[in-house]
Amino acid sequence: MLKLTHGPSGRHFLQIPGPTNVPDRVLRAIDNPTIDHRGPEFGVLGRKVLAEIKLIFKTKGPVVIYPASGTGAWEAALVNTLSPGDRVLMFETGHFATLWREMASKLGLAVEFVPGDWRHGVDPLAVETMLAQDRGHQIKAVMAVHNETSTGVTSRIGDIRKAIDRARHPALFMVDTISSLASIDYRHDEWGVDVTVAGSQKGLMLPPGLSFNAISDKALAAHKTARLPRSYWDWSAMLAANQTGFFPYTPATNLLYGLREALAMLAEEGLAQVFARHARHAEATRRAVRAWGLELNCEDPREQSGSLTAVRVPEGHDEAKLRAVALDRFDLSLGQGLGKLKGKVFRIGHLGAFNDLTLCGTLSGVEMSLGLAGIPARTGGVAAALEFLASQP
Ligand SMILES: Cc1ncc(COP(=O)(O)O)c(C=O)c1O
Repeated sequence: MLKLTHGPSGRHFLQIPGPTNVPDRVLRAIDNPTIDHRGPEFGVLGRKVLAEIKLIFKTKGPVVIYPASGTGAWEAALVNTLSPGDRVLMFETGHFATLWREMASKLGLAVEFVPGDWRHGVDPLAVETMLAQDRGHQIKAVMAVHNETSTGVTSRIGDIRKAIDRARHPALFMVDTISSLASIDYRHDEWGVDVTVAGSQKGLMLPPGLSFNAISDKALAAHKTARLPRSYWDWSAMLAANQTGFFPYTPATNLLYGLREALAMLAEEGLAQVFARHARHAEATRRAVRAWGLELNCEDPREQSGSLTAVRVPEGHDEAKLRAVALDRFDLSLGQGLGKLKGKVFRIGHLGAFNDLTLCGTLSGVEMSLGLAGIPARTGGVAAALEFLASQP
């Protein structure tokens, strides 16, 4: 039997960096009868969410919505714009950048993968240098993960755009915002991003199951001549059906009810406030980490993530033990170390439907678990976070 509630009482603390806690309002919205996805009512819903989702990406261009996880939207970005053998530039910022790179290679793209230490974001200067050297414009696209969920490092997308412009290079610019959209400031149009990839299960406060491509005019033009095979992900069929609010195949109707509600919640709070809330919780978390005497995985203060904090455990200790104690004793799920960071970092998700006291509960669970797991850390992290939260309304 699947045990969905771990603790004997109270709610589970799902503080992994996504999927995030789904607010009751969104759950109630999803819990409605599925309607005919070719009927008039659906068209109204489709037109509304397709129009309003643009505000979240800060774009005037089209956004397509797939019934798929984020990985599907990665694939859609590549197959809609590129051709077999195309050279693309990617950066090893962490686990998710590595997975996207593997996908690009499998699809037949020639990936130049700039090595990284999993503690820094994409270096805009490296982008400029590499593009400037590519005088024949062989590189067709530059890809970056905005917020590396595995490392807690946020790349500076606006600065990368400027670097591409300084090199006067025509490459497409594609950005994964799966763990930053609706949590960390992001501007598709202003930053000249050609394809933005996103998913439903993090800042958008929905269950997993929807993913997105925001598309620029330049990407649409590339789409016309791109030759990688595509069928399910084909933007043309999507965009044609979306004109009237419909989909070329069965959409995830109930998740779209949830999306409509989540968009209403984000509009009520205001995106600027949503970003400020995330930044404030991230700062409180970092103060707790410092007070514990532990090390942040992110090494550059300009790149600290607003949606999660990755914390390094001292040499000779395993983060898995800490997470097992947190789950067993306090019904708290923390993010595990992924890829090269397995065993080395644990991740505290502080994104989505989240408030001061959710953070306090989360940090309390971490502080108690550190002690119980025998990880050498001081107490006082929670106190440091409380002091910050109380003094910064
Ligand atoms: C930054 C980033 N990119 C891509 C993915 C993959 O998305 P999904 O697991 O929804 O397919 C994730 C998942 O956590 C992610 O955090």
